[in-house]
Amino acid sequence: MTSIPHDTPGEPDPLRALGLEQLRRRTSMKWRTYPEDVLPLWVAEMDVPLAGPVVRAVTDALTLGDTGYPAGTAYAEALAAFAAVRWKWDGLDVRRTAIVPDVMLGVVEMIKLVTGPGDPVIVNPPVYPPFFQFVTHMDRRVVEAPLGADLRIDLAALEEVFRQATTGSGRAAFLLCSPHNPTGTVHTAAELASVAARAERYGVRVVADEIHAPLVAPGVPFVPYLSVPGAGRGLSLMSASKGWNLAGLKAAVAVAGPEAAADLDRLPEEVGHGPSHIGVIAHTAALREGTGWLDALLAGLQANRTLLTGLLAEHLPAIRPQPAEATFLAWLDCRALGLGDDPAQVFLDRGRVALSSGLPFGTGGAGHVRLNLATSPEILTEGVRRMAAALMTHL
Ligand SMILES: Cc1ncc(COP(=O)(O)O)c(C=O)c1O
Repeated sequence: MTSIPHDTPGEPDPLRALGLEQLRRRTSMKWRTYPEDVLPLWVAEMDVPLAGPVVRAVTDALTLGDTGYPAGTAYAEALAAFAAVRWKWDGLDVRRTAIVPDVMLGVVEMIKLVTGPGDPVIVNPPVYPPFFQFVTHMDRRVVEAPLGADLRIDLAALEEVFRQATTGSGRAAFLLCSPHNPTGTVHTAAELASVAARAERYGVRVVADEIHAPLVAPGVPFVPYLSVPGAGRGLSLMSASKGWNLAGLKAAVAVAGPEAAADLDRLPEEVGHGPSHIGVIAHTAALREGTGWLDALLAGLQANRTLLTGLLAEHLPAIRPQPAEATFLAWLDCRALGLGDDPAQVFLDRGRVALSSGLPFGTGGAGHVRLNLATSPEILTEGVRRMAAALMTHL
């Protein structure tokens, strides 16, 4: 039988702090979208208590009534310091940053800076569904350059899409997801440099969504897009939101490469009024003082990845998970199960476990589900048990 891993030394694993009863008291999307008999392993919220420094910083702010508008560059400074230590990147210049309400609204604003209505925005499906929704909503055209069979960027296909997208009108953006949601792929420095070279060749502007950057597995190097040669005209969105489970405390940072600074300067002032001041305080505390907590989380996630592989081998051997190196998501190819294009619906209806359907992730999503690993080993085990049970009743 697949066994549940034990605690690692250091800070306690935050994934094992909360039980189902406590989690069901939460009122956020993960816990309130489905009825109580459904186990939710879908939307990217983590089943963790907050890092101590975040709780203290927010509590202090609330006690003081420090609930006005955000000011200053503390968040960007904390991010720059984190990037220098964690990713060995000292190129994050606070003068080339802006705070934005959250990553997706930041993505929208960056795309607005470098494209016009009707222009193409290239994405690598299967990819985070809001990439399609937000881009379409802002009157840009989504153009797909699907990942290769190895779930990595297909550089030749990307180049061809760059060429086609820029023939004629000329302006185009590439919305890079790094690390990639849902596959957990961490792009290498060589891959990112190739992306930058191709983008330069065709004049495509790169907007990198790097929200999952703090969530690389222990020992895996994350390479910030703006750190690779040729990426100077790129723009990046970074945030503590995924790494420390702060989605409800809205804030993110937009970072411009040296040759994109003038573009970022055109960001309308009102965009900076959108982030929550409490959000900025929380994110800043996470980056400054929450690295011990993050390391404990990353160890727990790694243990959960191993646990999931074992559970699937035992109960659902037809699903062979691709090894993910980042995020807290597992992208599962369920095509061998014969459950059709939307296996998540079968798992929900018959197993009472909620996973994300692969369909909204675009090309390559059919027959797949995305499972959220950021929970306790017990809940993860129960989730896979329910998936297997769904199959029994499906036969
Ligand atoms: C790749 C990616 N970008 C953006 C977001 C959303 O970030 P925010 O809430 O800051 O808009 C998520 C959330 O899961 C994500 O996975």
